[in-house]
Amino acid sequence: MTKVLIATVKPFAPAAVSQMQSILKEAGYELVLLEKYNSQQDLIDAVKDIDALIIRSDKITKEVLANAPKLKIVVRAGAGYDNVDLEAATQNNVVVMNTPGQNSNAVAELVLGMMVLMARNQFNGTAGTELKGKTIGIHAYGNVGKNVARIAKGFEMNVLAYDPFVSSEIVERDGITDIEEVGDLYKQAQYISLHIPANKHTIKSINYDLLKNMPHNAVLINTARKEVIDEDQLIKLMNDRPDFKYISDIAPDKKDEFEEKFGNRVFFTPKKMGAQTAEANINAGIAAVNQIINFIENYDTTFKVN
Ligand code: 3PG
Repeated sequence: MTKVLIATVKPFAPAAVSQMQSILKEAGYELVLLEKYNSQQDLIDAVKDIDALIIRSDKITKEVLANAPKLKIVVRAGAGYDNVDLEAATQNNVVVMNTPGQNSNAVAELVLGMMVLMARNQFNGTAGTELKGKTIGIHAYGNVGKNVARIAKGFEMNVLAYDPFVSSEIVERDGITDIEEVGDLYKQAQYISLHIPANKHTIKSINYDLLKNMPHNAVLINTARKEVIDEDQLIKLMNDRPDFKYISDIAPDKKDEFEEKFGNRVFFTPKKMGAQTAEANINAGIAAVNQIINFIENYDTTFKVN
């Protein structure tokens, strides 16, 4: 029987797991569940006889792959796959997929939620500001960026987007102002929301030079990856600019230093919460099991990323 392991340090909502279970059962597959595991060794032990693997931000290293001789497919139930060693997967003949778009509304709602939190001074009783009429710059107009734009328009914000991989026709068709140069996005937008993946081109790319030109009362929102920020340069910038605020769904490596130095000017979710809604878990989880079944039954490689 084909064995599918769901390995999630941060578990899916129970409703998602039970719907994934029914689809797998119907297809005659066996589900194995490893949730809230404590060490990488637990994951290594669990992959020994499985055929397919569903993960979230769980780390799929060379070692995990080397210990999974029957493994044919890994589906990252979500967008970013920087947690999977793609090269090692390819060497081991393991197909890697993601489930793009399935959790993007959840992440986008969190962006606006955290922006309201910061605009209202983290609800400390002092007079805050409104989002209406302010400018937001969306750095990368993919699935999450598009949803942020849609919701920000509902707040009557002025919405700009920069994405070298998306044509200006697509951006403008959504009623968003397309920006050609990344520096111009940062110059014009009081709020910047990051939606770039973490890869060799983007790691530490959000740096002092880019951020220093943001308008007065700038707010940087990061629901992408902590690695894209140059943390030392952001600390320097926030020292130089007492009006600058930073919100992130992924605590930075230098979290204590940020909190100590900048207090209420920073906000970090205690756990990565962007995709953590029942709806997103159900959407991404169901997409993942269907992609596995379609791959195993029909060799359908849609959404393959390696
Ligand atoms: C993603 O890449 O899909 C998001 O960052 C969500 O990650 P998570 O599934 O670990 O919450």
